[in-house]
Amino acid sequence: MNRAKTILDIQKMKATGEKITVLTSYDYPFTRIMDECGIDMILVGDSVGVVFAGHDNTLPVTVDDMLYHTRAVTRARPKALVVTDMPFLSYQTDLRDARINAGRLVKEGGAEAVKLEGGAHVTDTIRAIVDMDIPVMAHIGLTPQSIHRMGGYKVQGKKEEQAQRLLEDALAVQEAGAFAVVLEGIPLTLAGRITTELSIPTIGIGAGPHCDGQVLVIHDILGLCEKYSPKFVKRYGDARTLISDAVASYISEVKKGEFPTEGHSFS
Ligand code: KIV
Repeated sequence: MNRAKTILDIQKMKATGEKITVLTSYDYPFTRIMDECGIDMILVGDSVGVVFAGHDNTLPVTVDDMLYHTRAVTRARPKALVVTDMPFLSYQTDLRDARINAGRLVKEGGAEAVKLEGGAHVTDTIRAIVDMDIPVMAHIGLTPQSIHRMGGYKVQGKKEEQAQRLLEDALAVQEAGAFAVVLEGIPLTLAGRITTELSIPTIGIGAGPHCDGQVLVIHDILGLCEKYSPKFVKRYGDARTLISDAVASYISEVKKGEFPTEGHSFS
């Protein structure tokens, strides 16, 4: 496809059965590379707070942080649809805050859609943002901004009662106007059930193979996170060794006087 993808293209993929590929990106060079590879959607995730900024969780991330990273991503002019996370406290206070912050991510950052966490209890917020013609991707199940309520990053919806509530959450966010929904950290059968029930695409992370698409954090698939690697992550490369080898060679060559050579110098 030669033009940029829209939410309609993403939704059409559910109808045709083509799997939707999503990765997080927080900067210009990674966005260029993954866009050249043909990724369908780029998520400027608030995971930036953990994998980029070194925080223990996503709670300290601000709207200004998300704006900075969204601008870096959209400057790469990707063909992929760019969705930016609404960070903690940017939509939970009231609908006015939610509208202003979603608007800033689109107006100042260049995002084409926003993502926010929560089910039935955030439907008013989803409606308020969708009413401004800003597409919203919902996010249910293991929602990292609720880490303190969940008591850690725990798989959600294992008991039938919880599973039923998650199915109701999924239907509620669809009804509120979300164009897609991320299902994180839930059993694969439940994810399959939700995917069948919904007409909007489901994007899974730690939710098994039955979702309409998959999302992973770029640092995780490249082996750049030394702190923690969840079971659902597959490492597709070892960028840590690549970077470490290059840095070690540079240090060694400079120490030994092997770099720079005349070829790297001006006469
Ligand atoms: O912040 C993030 O990167 C996310 C995805 C992992 C779904 O929310």
